[in-house]
Amino acid sequence: MIPDALSTALRKARHLVVFTGAGVSAESGIPTFRDALSGLWERFDPAELATPSAFRRDPALVWGWYEWRRMKVLQAQPNPAHRAIAALAERVEKLTLITQNVDDLHERAGSRDVIHLHGSLHAPRCFACGRPHAISEVPEEPAEGRCLEPPRCQRCNGKVRPGVVWFGEALPEAALRAAFKAAGECDVLLSIGTSGVVQPAASIPQLALQSGATVAHINPQPSGQGGAREFSLAGAAGVVLPELLGQLDAR
Ligand code: OAD
Repeated sequence: MIPDALSTALRKARHLVVFTGAGVSAESGIPTFRDALSGLWERFDPAELATPSAFRRDPALVWGWYEWRRMKVLQAQPNPAHRAIAALAERVEKLTLITQNVDDLHERAGSRDVIHLHGSLHAPRCFACGRPHAISEVPEEPAEGRCLEPPRCQRCNGKVRPGVVWFGEALPEAALRAAFKAAGECDVLLSIGTSGVVQPAASIPQLALQSGATVAHINPQPSGQGGAREFSLAGAAGVVLPELLGQLDAR
């Protein structure tokens, strides 16, 4: 059930921000970051694999894990939530899509100019000199739990690393600036499928709220403080977002 006050705010909105986390890709079969890892990876803590020091210590372990994740993404398809977000862009004057996800499912659903705050699985670069590295579309050795030597940089022979933001690293500056600007200017922000625990990304909905926007959280776990301009839509993104879209179209 979509509250009337939210539908009204969405209909009037000139600038809508959609802020997504791992939950938006959950229904495509991509495990959320805080889900226990299954199968052969279950003995590893993702937070311990996603660091520069882990890569220095055991590059083949870390590269193998990310190539396995890239393979999972390549095998996955965008779900109704990704498609509803792409469709929302046709309904409002301006939509800014900010994601913490490192997959490309928003793009494959038709969204354009996605701000990737935490980088991308599909844009590796050299760990030593930063040069972007072209990798084959299909991972070389996609078996689960398999360590895999990272390729070498063609300029400096350094090891190639995944193009994601690791714990302890700064977020891409331009992406962060654009995200905060949009959050500060928008009329409505939809925060979808994020646990809101990793800063600075987690402060984006709060900034929108403080700047006078209406904010709605879409998550099976009720979230947000509540209030006149803050809504919690408890449910799966792939169910709630098509409903929201249907309500907008039914005007
Ligand atoms: P999390 O794994 O922390 O949270 C996923 C959220 O999605 C949880 O709140 C779930 O309740 C919710 N969820 C699960 N299924 C859902 C569904 N079908 N529809 C809607 N919501 C659903 O993922 P993030 O918040 O994205 O950062 O994590 C943020 C960052 O933490 C990640 O980008 C990663 C990690 O550290 C880096 O790697 C830098």
